[in-house]
Amino acid sequence: MTILAIESSCDDSSAAVIINGKVHSNIVATQAIHQKWGGVVPELASRAHQQHIVPVVAEALQRANITKNDLNAIAFTRGPGLLGSLLVGASFAKSLALGLNLPLIDVHHMQAHVLAHFIDEPKPNFPFLCLTVSGGHTQIVLVRSALNMEIIGETQDDAVGEAFDKTAKLLELPYPGGPLIDQYAKEGDPNKFPFPMVEMQGLNYSFSGIKTAFLYFLQKEKLKNPNFVQENLADICASMQSTLIKILLQKLKRAVKETKIKEIAIAGGVSANSGLRNELKKLGDEQGWNVYIPDFQYCTDNAGMIAIAAHFKAEAGEFCSQDVSPMPRMSF
Ligand code: KG4
Ligand code: ZN
Repeated sequence: MTILAIESSCDDSSAAVIINGKVHSNIVATQAIHQKWGGVVPELASRAHQQHIVPVVAEALQRANITKNDLNAIAFTRGPGLLGSLLVGASFAKSLALGLNLPLIDVHHMQAHVLAHFIDEPKPNFPFLCLTVSGGHTQIVLVRSALNMEIIGETQDDAVGEAFDKTAKLLELPYPGGPLIDQYAKEGDPNKFPFPMVEMQGLNYSFSGIKTAFLYFLQKEKLKNPNFVQENLADICASMQSTLIKILLQKLKRAVKETKIKEIAIAGGVSANSGLRNELKKLGDEQGWNVYIPDFQYCTDNAGMIAIAAHFKAEAGEFCSQDVSPMPRMSF
């Protein structure tokens, strides 16, 4: 079974080829245009996908050493994501499938983040818990099997990736700020500035409070010292990052206690954060968990994860019709 997968939910245009469950190519074109605006501009994202999609698909086929005539199915991200961006990937996938007379597979972007763990070894054993952390989502997912997942906790407002990016914006760092906070945090003292941790009910998260607290903190410190940010950048990043990680891991610990599942994975763009990766490993050792952390290339948005999800759906005979339309908001 040879599947071409396309991902276009936000600001990365990506195509991958999977052959019998093994990813043979995974090409990602990241859209630099959004940096200038300090965040993703949906219309620009959609236009950039239109420009990238043909070359990205051509390269994915070439790297996998196949032509479009070798394909058995076409997969695409149906949602969640930006409507204009999703439309480009979905329309391209549908046209290609129609032209080649191939079946289509629609993939849920967040389920694909979780399934990225099945691209390489070691693979988690079912059931496992996956902390899925991205620019738009923060979820604890109970994964019973590749196609049976349940969200057991999630953010009630902002996503943790958004908290990273907004912190960076307030520090006047370019978009996307998450990776830069990560970089500066390595040189800083995580205990220098204590930020409040809002306690949410059950396994749910909230990140809007800490974002506001951070804004007031900066305003106050900048009044006392206009050079506060420049003089304390590493310590500010380290303190904020460590607070966000503590919030994430506290609930994960609670989820383990409640479910008694000790197979633990992380997924999504924020799982590329080195502080989170280290702290999770440490906590796992301490608690006797088996921790699974994906390769960097499969953390942020990529079509490799769409391809592996499509592989599982194809195995289960779950194909979709040409009538399926993109869903910007999509539940499991
Ligand atoms: O999964 P993803 O690529 O796209 C969405 O589906 O949202 O996640 C993007 C998010 C952004 O908020 C970005 O700042 C964050 O992941 N991110 C990071 C790091 N790398 C990416 N956040 C913190 N540390 C990183 N190293
Ligand atoms: Zn994502």
